[in-house]
Amino acid sequence: GGGTGGGGTGNRVDNPYVGAKGYVNPEWSAHAAAEPGGSRIADQSTAVWLDRIAAINGVNGGMGLRAHLDEALKQKGSGDLVVQLVIYDLPGRDCAALASNGELGPDDIDKYKSQYIDPIAAILSDAKYAGLRIATVIEPDSLPNLVTNAGGTNSTTAACVTMKSNGNYEKGVSYALDKLGAILNVYNYIDAGHHGWLGWDSNLGPAVQEFAKVATTNGASVNDVTGFIVNTANYSPTKEPNFKVTDTVNGQTVRQSKWVDWNQYVDEQSYAVALRDKLVAAGFDSGLGMLIDTSRNGWGGSARPTGPGPLTSVDDYVNGSRVDRRIHAGNWCNQSGAGLGARPTAAPAAGIDAYVWVKPPGESDGSSSAVSNDEGKGFDRMCDPTYGGNVLNGNNPTGALSNAPLAGHWFSAQFRQLMQNAYPPLP
Ligand code: BGC
Repeated sequence: GGGTGGGGTGNRVDNPYVGAKGYVNPEWSAHAAAEPGGSRIADQSTAVWLDRIAAINGVNGGMGLRAHLDEALKQKGSGDLVVQLVIYDLPGRDCAALASNGELGPDDIDKYKSQYIDPIAAILSDAKYAGLRIATVIEPDSLPNLVTNAGGTNSTTAACVTMKSNGNYEKGVSYALDKLGAILNVYNYIDAGHHGWLGWDSNLGPAVQEFAKVATTNGASVNDVTGFIVNTANYSPTKEPNFKVTDTVNGQTVRQSKWVDWNQYVDEQSYAVALRDKLVAAGFDSGLGMLIDTSRNGWGGSARPTGPGPLTSVDDYVNGSRVDRRIHAGNWCNQSGAGLGARPTAAPAAGIDAYVWVKPPGESDGSSSAVSNDEGKGFDRMCDPTYGGNVLNGNNPTGALSNAPLAGHWFSAQFRQLMQNAYPPLP
């Protein structure tokens, strides 16, 4: 839970997920239900991504924000219900990759405020919707990109350097926190990457400082922040059941294995809980709650190890133990072999507000070859199964599925594999 401490928090509950149903997006649900066996999960709650200005009113006749909220009121009935919205349209979006470059140029901060955040805030503050609990996921990847990809590292990109120097990610996130945080039934969760991105102390310290800065400038305050979300649209397991970061093999720490590569964490729940403590120490509310996106981090199916690996070396042990079957933890696009993770669950552990399905399973991370489009989406070779990788994934193959459509578009073959490899398995 979070935001119990005064100034603008009104009568928010500590954890909006407790005692509430989750909104089922009828559009996603229809895609899921149309797949063989899809009805087993078509009634799960997934987030609604407001991924462009036009999404506020609905793209190509699809549901807009009001249509979703009206439907949410119906689903709510006399109980409580949480609607999850992803706020995702920053200027110069997705600066370290190409698959989800968006519609706004690096300097379009005014447009972001007046044509994106303000209209969303106007709708959310309609009294008609005051009985809904609205959880927002604020701008996936943006602040983490400023921390690791905007200068002084081998993963630096020119686009992230631009977004750091013009300040428009920071101004945009602060603005969103401030405007949305002023609405008493809105619960803001800031995106905090995943353990395989920020889990090294040398990244996590600066990340916490960055989050604290953005939440306390340009009108934002820590009271606008209910919590943070980890693993948004990523594939990192909630828990690695067969090994821990503190394990040693023949006197050597598993941290020196190629897979762990000196990271301080090996899974998302340990990362989320540790990050939470650091955020509270940096000034965030002591009731801060974390979310974990478990939509595609299940890693079940026949390739899932059933116990620890052999004690012949740290690499043998970790590789034999890990349920995360990615070729490299830096791989992020349409991962082959992945499965649905834990179904959405409220308050699964201390400090964790919920396991959530923010990335709607079956929606692509990016196209496997260039596809012309009017959504601002580029072709990122991390989505190309024939690409040999780069410094970000240790020059390994990408592990991406072939024949993938543009980011956000329905990818039937991926959805079917996610169901097949679900963990816990589907009935
Ligand atoms: C895409 C968005 C999409 C979202 C959810 C992102 O990668 O860029 O367009 O809405 O995924 O599938």
